[in-house]
Amino acid sequence: MNKLVTSVNAACASIQHHYSGSTSSSTRVKIDSAIILGSGLSNLNLDGFETVCTINYSDISGLPKATAPSHKGELKLISNGQRTLALCAGRHHLYEGHSAQDVATLAYVMRQLGADELIITNAAGALNPDYQPGDIMLINDHINFTGHNPVRAQDDTFGVVFPDMSKAYDVKRLSTAKSIAATHSIACHQGVYIGVMGPSLETSAERRMMRSFGADAVGMSTVLEVIAANHCGMEVLGMSAITNLALGDENQAPDTLEEVLENAAIAGKGMVTILNGLFAS
Ligand code: HPA
Repeated sequence: MNKLVTSVNAACASIQHHYSGSTSSSTRVKIDSAIILGSGLSNLNLDGFETVCTINYSDISGLPKATAPSHKGELKLISNGQRTLALCAGRHHLYEGHSAQDVATLAYVMRQLGADELIITNAAGALNPDYQPGDIMLINDHINFTGHNPVRAQDDTFGVVFPDMSKAYDVKRLSTAKSIAATHSIACHQGVYIGVMGPSLETSAERRMMRSFGADAVGMSTVLEVIAANHCGMEVLGMSAITNLALGDENQAPDTLEEVLENAAIAGKGMVTILNGLFAS
């Protein structure tokens, strides 16, 4: 068995073990939707949902170590009696030294535990001059500019070896999210996310190039998880918190982590409203 399959199986068994321990039940956990939370959303709670169990990533065998400073590294299973959601506070990044398959492991684990929907959030810099820090961008497509791919060297255990990516982000979910945002007057765009490896930020010349490629926002995550999600048959909704201006023009200011975190928290409030709208019963 290859390493990815072994890791995914070990992680699923470990989550099942923790779930059975905290619910005193031998029922198998069945996740309906998984949400991967980026910077600013780590402490998400959803209206009407109760926590079933909380597991540290470090207690899930098979799951790579999450080391990014603004990410909690915690899986919370929540339920409203009808639906069980997995809130994944923290993800794995290429820039931490992880492989593409390490980065994608969480998405495959969620699928194996039953999730047919992956909602993914991130922080991103604005390449589109119409965007402001604190805004939200619903991702309608992406450009994988990392040079990596989690499906590389896989067999067909999780899906076909040449997964289709022509509709990587689900149109229906995007349109529902857009109308929830409009109802609540939340500043919300739709656009193309370009994923890079990091951890250095892009040069101004790189950002101007990315704008000319047709990208609207740039970040260091998401694309590999979304490839994995499409590969194993999950529908995807992606949302970017616009945290800084990344136009690469003559006014380009230096990027700071403080600015990113501050604006991630602002956009995060709107994302919570959208998520609550999506899961309101
Ligand atoms: N570039 C890459 N990743 C990011 C940025 C950016 O400008 N902002 C937040 N994450």
